Amino acid sequence: MHERNGNPLNICVIGAGYVGLTTGTVLASFGHSVTVVEKDAAKLDVLAAGKVPIFEPGLEELMAEDLENESLRFSSDLAAALEEADAVFVAVGTPSSPDGSADLRAVDVVSDEIARLLRRPIVLVIKSTVPIGTSDAVADRIHEALGRRSDELAALGVLPASGRVEELCEVVFCPEFLREGKALLDLVHPHRIVIGTGSTKALDLLKDLFASIDAPILVTDRRSAEAIKYASNAFLATKISFVNEMANLCEVTGADIIDVATGMGMDERIGDKFLQAGVGYGGSCFPKDTKALLHIADTAGYKFSILEAVVDVNERQKRRVIAILRNMIGDLAGTKIALLGLAFKPETDDIREAPSIVVAKELLHEGADVIGYDPQAAQNLANEVPGIVIAGSAEEAIEGADAIVLLTEWEEFLQLDPVTIRSRMRGDLLIDGRNVLDPERLIQAGLRYHGIGRRIGDLGDVRDPGEGCESC
Ligand code: UGA
Repeated sequence: MHERNGNPLNICVIGAGYVGLTTGTVLASFGHSVTVVEKDAAKLDVLAAGKVPIFEPGLEELMAEDLENESLRFSSDLAAALEEADAVFVAVGTPSSPDGSADLRAVDVVSDEIARLLRRPIVLVIKSTVPIGTSDAVADRIHEALGRRSDELAALGVLPASGRVEELCEVVFCPEFLREGKALLDLVHPHRIVIGTGSTKALDLLKDLFASIDAPILVTDRRSAEAIKYASNAFLATKISFVNEMANLCEVTGADIIDVATGMGMDERIGDKFLQAGVGYGGSCFPKDTKALLHIADTAGYKFSILEAVVDVNERQKRRVIAILRNMIGDLAGTKIALLGLAFKPETDDIREAPSIVVAKELLHEGADVIGYDPQAAQNLANEVPGIVIAGSAEEAIEGADAIVLLTEWEEFLQLDPVTIRSRMRGDLLIDGRNVLDPERLIQAGLRYHGIGRRIGDLGDVRDPGEGCESC
């Protein structure tokens, strides 16, 4: 698919999760020879059949091309993959521990495996998001273990002339900035490539690996590269929580967040991205990474006040919908509420930390009947929130509803006809949790419209929506 400039390299990617699978597929499409190593047998079966276990636009097609021209393969055999590899990418999960810290067990297991199996020089590229200092610790851990194998490695003839085992495994931290739903675009056209390394050899290899990508490269040390990843996600989350608080303030002061955000975004220093007010951020990254950064700060004895507020505001924002509903239709027991969009954002089936989970659970707790629809994520949500009824279409979901809450801005919801919506409902309230619908048309059709921070429509009394909400 892509024009390649650098030398083709042998690459082993460990972990066929979101980052590993998309990165491996794109690197293979650049002409490198890629083996994705995955432990989960069921996932491997799916991949071997040419199917993608996640919903990511374009991925299945690109993977099919790579498999066809044999630049990509899947395996459970790490030892065999390491026999060939020039570069090894670590793309295993670092989920949140109960205390918010990143759970590094998978990184440790992989590091130990590599240290045990390595028989040729590699550049080890850590892609997983890890706390500041982790890559240094991984390097120490592997080098110590390789040191214990130095006689064996000398006998194999792979020890460098210097005798330094460090040169057998150069550890680099290279953060990933892809967005779910836009992963291929972000991988091929990133805003920047950040490479954390002090090694010229590793840097040269990575430049070769990414030769097809036209993006600025920032070379720094490993700790700064790790910090850049957390800081970027935390700053984007800050923009969202800020604009959400501003939207809440607009509701009680009669301003309109759409115009406010547009006016702010016209200042290039602020920028017009990530100023979309709504029901809060979700996903596998912002919630996890903000909490992990707070934990890093806490451990270092630093109080990261802004970030604490960002997380707190987001939790409240997800629950705000409940208070708005209560304020506008009264007691929710026995009402029928339709949730449109359950994924944490459009173009994905991912529901991790999605606002829909909190909203659905809270509504069920209040005694409402909750019916949800999502083009991709409905089954995932039904598994997470058993009490929810899943509809096969948006039209079916809104049938007889007292209120509709749009939680994810899937394109198909923008096409819904306001008159049809009104005629199918029992009630007349529509909460546009992403500010994407046309309020005037909805109001003309006889609906009561409530956007987030919008001046248009019926705002009801939302001065203190947190009051009385079970889990606010
Ligand atoms: C995010 C970052 O955007 C990526 O750069 C990063 O690589 C990734 O995390 C990661 O660390 O792996 P992602 O979680 O896929 O990507 O999704 P985003 O498109 O950033 O959206 C995150 C959440 O913020 C969504 O729930 C979205 O609805 C919400 N959002 C986004 C807003 O509420 N308002 C906005 O203006 C923008």
